[in-house]
Amino acid sequence: MMLFNYFFLFFFVIHAGKVLAELPPGVTPCSPSESPDAYDSCVLQQLMILTPQLVKGIPSLKLPPLDPLSLPSLIVDRNLDAIRVKANLSSVRVYGASNYEIDELRAKPNDLSVFLRLRIPYIHVKGNYEVKGNLLLISLNGNGAFKGNFTNTQVRVSAQGKEVVDKNQVKRIELSKLSTKLRIGGGNIKLKTPPTQVRAADAATSFFNSNPRLVLDIINPIIEETAASIGKALAARALGALTKDEILP
Ligand SMILES: *[C@@H]1O[C@H](CO)[C@@H](O)[C@H](O)[C@H]1NC(C)=O
Ligand SMILES: *[C@@H]1O[C@H](CO)[C@@H](O)[C@H](O)[C@H]1NC(C)=O
Repeated sequence: MMLFNYFFLFFFVIHAGKVLAELPPGVTPCSPSESPDAYDSCVLQQLMILTPQLVKGIPSLKLPPLDPLSLPSLIVDRNLDAIRVKANLSSVRVYGASNYEIDELRAKPNDLSVFLRLRIPYIHVKGNYEVKGNLLLISLNGNGAFKGNFTNTQVRVSAQGKEVVDKNQVKRIELSKLSTKLRIGGGNIKLKTPPTQVRAADAATSFFNSNPRLVLDIINPIIEETAASIGKALAARALGALTKDEILP
């Protein structure tokens, strides 16, 4: 879900001579003076070459491995019409995000912007949870371990960068805008809880598994926000590791 910011970064990275030295052979910079279509297909081609590297992570860019992606802790605190939830998800691992298929990519180097539309056919997620709240009439109170399979996730991302000067007068690129639209096609979950909570967990599990579309639509704003905040944090870390001159010499 958060692999879009890998693409955003990648888009800058292809210009970065210094960083390129650590990337696999075969990755070549795309020239912004090409036609927009030629530029976009060049970026796409470099992305394909770079994907195995993203899977393992790029330490020089402080990019953690993409598949599985580890998220140490996610805090959610939201009240919406149909769901009220306070959750702490920990030791979360997301498998399968590297099997993305890009349907559309538009990159504008002069403008520091990028738009992406992609699909992830299958994602497996696992982790631990501590939750208080309710979804419609279903209680969500409990803690334990969760597993989930999610199919046909569609993602649309637009990201906009801007040039800033840090406190040491070094020019850097910051992510100034990030909009994430996401739709998970279907899903199936399993929960493992202490014996006293098994009935409540079974009720929540079977509600989700028999109405995945309904539940996914209700929780979608939370998923989109969470994906965007993870994306922003990762992008800030990676962009902070580079100066503007390294990114766009
Ligand atoms: C979230 O859960 C983890 C694991 O149980 C714990 O270490 C962490 O302190 C919790 N965070 C918050 C904000 O409660
Ligand atoms: C996810 O799918 C795998 C096989 O593809 C299956 O073994 C596993 O039980 C499924 N998990 C859930 C939570 O549905």
